[in-house]
Amino acid sequence: MSSESPSDPPLLRVEDLYKRYGDEEVLNGVSFDMDAQDVQVLVGPSGSGKSTLLRCVNRLTEFEGGRIALDGTPTDEMDENDLRRQVGMVFQDFNLFAHLTAKRNVMLGLRRVRGHSKEEAEARALEELEQVGLGDQADSYPAELSGGQQQRVGIARALAMDPKLMLFDEPTSALDPELIGEVLGVMRDLADQGMTMLCVTHEMGFARQVATDIMFLEGGHLVEHGPPEQLFENPRHERTAQFLDRLTSLHGGDHG
Ligand SMILES: Nc1ncnc2c1ncn2[C@@H]1O[C@H](COP(=O)(O)OP(=O)(O)OP(=O)(O)O)[C@@H](O)[C@H]1O
Ligand SMILES: [Mg+2]
Repeated sequence: MSSESPSDPPLLRVEDLYKRYGDEEVLNGVSFDMDAQDVQVLVGPSGSGKSTLLRCVNRLTEFEGGRIALDGTPTDEMDENDLRRQVGMVFQDFNLFAHLTAKRNVMLGLRRVRGHSKEEAEARALEELEQVGLGDQADSYPAELSGGQQQRVGIARALAMDPKLMLFDEPTSALDPELIGEVLGVMRDLADQGMTMLCVTHEMGFARQVATDIMFLEGGHLVEHGPPEQLFENPRHERTAQFLDRLTSLHGGDHG
């Protein structure tokens, strides 16, 4: 998939990851690699540990066992802010500041994390808003935007940090059905431009067309992973087949 030589470390390596909340084992030895430009789709039942896995990757939560490395560097040796800059995250519920315009929401990290001047930050924010099709909404407040537009601001905000990896946690689950396509369209564009993406999503049309790999997580175990053709047409485990069938009947539409 990538143009890198085989000796390069993977862009993301997750190795034997264990995570507990109290007595509950939430992740039970999860391992996988992602190369640059991979689009990894993560599916699994509610409570299977998908969000927890994403949160371990950018250290929003700590874990008890295993290792995570970004570009060969263990994430626990990285400065936390540096890690969060390199690993962008998009949430289900947008997480925008209501009192700031779209442009100011995107500028915030550029000013605070990247130390851009006001002028630099403004120019970059406008560029990113253009990229997600919102150049004409830069001065709108979140309440004046649709859910799909708010989510695209969230994506622009993450992209402004020049991330190496983007994490998406059910980015379209809070949206009305007619707004899902515009967000998936932006994600598809990003994938086409070579962004490395780890996406929790139920949108099976997107997964089939855009994913390089699909992982099925159940009870904190990685049951199966492989390219979409394999998981959809020829899964190794009956549970994978059942789960993907059910998701496809619920969310199989092509919104992109
Ligand atoms: N902060 C927390 N404190 C305690 N338990 C938690 C916490 N976050 C998650 N859990 C538990 O960990 C398990 C996995 O949760 P997680 O949110 O990762 O699942 P998920 O696969 O993302 O589910 P969903 O599809 O519903 O979003 C669940 O049993 C959940 O209750
Ligand atoms: Mg979740």
